[in-house]
Parts: sequence; C-alpha cells; structure tokens
Amino acid sequence: MMSKIARQGAHPQGPKKKPAAPAAAPTEPGTAPLTIRPVRRGDLDAVIEMDAMVTGIEKRDYWNSLYRRYADAVATGQHFLVATARDEVIGFAIGEVRDWEFGSPPCGWVFAIDVRPDARLAGTGTQLLLAMCQGFKKAGVSKVRTMLSRDNTLILSFFRSQGMMIGPFVPLEMDLEP
Ligand SMILES: CC(C)(COP(=O)(O)OP(=O)(O)OC[C@H]1O[C@@H](n2cnc3c(N)ncnc32)[C@H](O)[C@@H]1OP(=O)(O)O)[C@@H](O)C(=O)NCCC(=O)NCCS
Repeated sequence: MMSKIARQGAHPQGPKKKPAAPAAAPTEPGTAPLTIRPVRRGDLDAVIEMDAMVTGIEKRDYWNSLYRRYADAVATGQHFLVATARDEVIGFAIGEVRDWEFGSPPCGWVFAIDVRPDARLAGTGTQLLLAMCQGFKKAGVSKVRTMLSRDNTLILSFFRSQGMMIGPFVPLEMDLEP
C-alpha cells in the first residue's frame, strides 16, 4: 500500500502543504505578501534579535560567521534564507547539502528555522522549508533531514506537519573528561 507520505506527495519532494513556492508568495487576503529570498547583510540584526528572542542568548559573533559562510553560497548547496513581509524580516532558515555525512549519500540538512512569534501560524515556516527543499532539489539531492531537541514539541509538530518522519540515525553523546 502506498504510504500516507507518498500519497501526500511530501518528502522527499518537499513539504506537503502549500505546494507553490513563488519568490513572492501571497499570504491571506489583506495581509502583506511574503517574500522568501537569500539573506542580506542588512537582515542580520533582525535575525540576531529573533534568535535571541527564541533562545534567550544573543550570539552576534556566531551569526556574523554564519553569514560569511552561507551568504552567496547557494552554488555550493548552502542556504541562508529569510522571509520578509512589508520589508521586515519575520523568519529565517539555514541548511546545506552535505556529502556522505554519517556515511549516507548526499542529502539536504536543515539546521535552523525560526519565525518571529508574532508572525507564526500563517504559513511562513512552511514557505521557508519549501524554498529550502527546492534549493536542495536543484542541487541534485532527493532527501532532507534535520535534528531537533526531543523536548521541542513545537518544532517537532512543525516538521511532522511537513511530512518528515523519524530517520535511520540515532544521536549518541558523552561527556569528555577535562
Ligand atoms: C516551528 C516554526 C518555525 C513554525 O513556523 P510557522 O510560520 O508558525 O509555521 P506554519 O504556519 O507554516 O505552520 C505549519 C504547520 O506546523 C504546525 N505547527 C506550527 N505551529 C504549531 C504549534 N504551535 N502547535 C502545533 N502545531 C504547529 C501545524 O501543523 C501548522 O499547520 P496548520 O497551521 O495548518 O495547523 C515556528 O513556530 C518557530 O520559529 N518556532 C521556534 C523554532 C525553534 O525552536 N527554533 C530553534 C531550533 S531550530
């Protein structure tokens, strides 16, 4: 029997909902259109502020270094995307294609996705992930993976809603003796 995911045309094709991902995707009537585009230097303050709002820690050096590595790196399969509405950054997503990571054939990894709390539940996260998956497909891969904290039920609900399922890897860790 065809799986639910295959029937929905989700993974590995990309998120199952809101299938069209134009550069400027219309949102609900009467609201500002959503644009998904590569990050620009001028977006960084908004990204840093959003991350600090969600995680409680401001990491300016980290974000500057990510920007240097990922901006304009689409050709190498790296994506740092922002979602904007009325010229304001309301979300971002970061990911890249990794070759033979953990012994698996090349696939796309989503490392981070965040939508400003006051802009959530309007499809922005879906559009960001969709744009990221389209970039991965252009780079020639047919699978997308992510890793999340098991306590973060919000992000788990989101990725599950997009058609993502438990993957074949198990994370392991240990404390290193000083
Ligand atoms: C997860 C997140 C990116 C979703 O962004 P969003 O723009 O609200 O997502 P969407 O509107 O596209 O939602 C898509 C689906 O996700 C699921 N979802 C989103 N928010 C949810 C919530 N609060 N509870 C349950 N399901 C939720 C729903 O199934 C939703 O579809 P529906 O609206 O038809 O029910 C956003 O909530 C966020 O930034 N959370 C914090 C992320 C975080 O912890 N990042 C750090 C680790 S990377």
